[in-house]
Amino acid sequence: MRKIDYDIKDLSLASQGKKKIEWARQNMPVLKLITDEFSKTKPLKGLLIGACLHVTSETANLILAYLAGGAKVALCASNPLSTQDMVASSLVVDYGVPVFAIHGEDKKTYYKHLNKVLDVHPQLTTDDGADLVTLLHTERLKQIPEIIGSAEETTTGVIRLTAMAKDKALKIPVLAVNDSDTKHMFDNRYGTGQSTVDGILRSTNILLAGKRVVVCGYGWCGRGIASRMRGMGAHVTIIEVDPVKALEAVMDGFPIDQIGHAIRYGEMFVSATGDKEVISTNHMKKMKDGAILANSGHFNVEFDYDGLVKMAKTKRILRNNLEEFILLSGKRLFALGEGRLINLAGAEGHPAEVMDMSFANQALGAAWFVKRKGSLKPKVYVLPKEVDQRVARLKLHAMGMKFDRLTPVQRKYLHSWQEGT
Ligand code: ADE
Repeated sequence: MRKIDYDIKDLSLASQGKKKIEWARQNMPVLKLITDEFSKTKPLKGLLIGACLHVTSETANLILAYLAGGAKVALCASNPLSTQDMVASSLVVDYGVPVFAIHGEDKKTYYKHLNKVLDVHPQLTTDDGADLVTLLHTERLKQIPEIIGSAEETTTGVIRLTAMAKDKALKIPVLAVNDSDTKHMFDNRYGTGQSTVDGILRSTNILLAGKRVVVCGYGWCGRGIASRMRGMGAHVTIIEVDPVKALEAVMDGFPIDQIGHAIRYGEMFVSATGDKEVISTNHMKKMKDGAILANSGHFNVEFDYDGLVKMAKTKRILRNNLEEFILLSGKRLFALGEGRLINLAGAEGHPAEVMDMSFANQALGAAWFVKRKGSLKPKVYVLPKEVDQRVARLKLHAMGMKFDRLTPVQRKYLHSWQEGT
């Protein structure tokens, strides 16, 4: 093994991790095509990439695409509970990637690892939640001139970066990969929908049929969670603050309610809002005995987990990622994954089939940055529509699907205004 710096749990897990990475690759045909193309054209030649992503088998395949393109990559985790230690091990042992990520790392180690990635002086960074960009703009400002740009994977990160840009605090160009249609319409909806149910079931093994589930947030993630929960027979109620999204929920056939009322009957609460204190300790006090709290939003602030820890009389761990809290009143509440995103903390994140498109966009985004080096402004960009069209076309092709194209007459009609009634 080439001598590299790393900090992972256990090097001996590499062979298991390698198989896991290979299995994910089976279901990532678009990324595989791009990787093959990158190996020939080397669009990232000589580039240093610093990645702060969930360290999963799907992410490993993105890292391999970067390497195939000629880049060097250092990787740390974008969440303390999402790292798959065997994948981290294989990346170090089999692919020589400096990885700094240990499942269950504390906050201090988490930030030590982010700093390790910035120590390699990356020219391109990629984030899932904007923690690297934030660190660059706070403690590592001197490195800003070295940065070509930074890609952002998730809604929460894009919200933070947009706020930075609005505040004129953003000093580098960023690419909101999340905002590509072939990312959020599939990853956020079908990926989060399925993996959230997966994480909840692995943590609890409860029956969803007949459960009264309250889903907070009806963005792409909330829609996915609500539809999958309904598919399993749960009675789903939606909490939403945006009137258009709330109306959409109603017309999708879901009852909507206010959280202050839904806490009285909900048996399980799942948040995916991107905001904080959606469920406060005051709400928790009024919940039914035995209510379950889960979060699928990026940060562990959507239900007040810390507040629950403080207010509870006792706490005990019943299963992996399942904690029982007894309140002073004697009421029992159950929290999953310490309030962290349960689809990654309790399961393995989104399946490879959707990460295929998300990470195809990430890989093409890196090449997009290199081509525009020096010409971009410090603002939030999105990938051009043609990239979405290409990713979708490749995905459909890989799935063996055929779809129609416009005839010349139809194309002309769509570009003309003269013809009417
Ligand atoms: N985000 C959600 N699911 C993921 C996965 N499987 N890998 C990387 N990032 C993710």
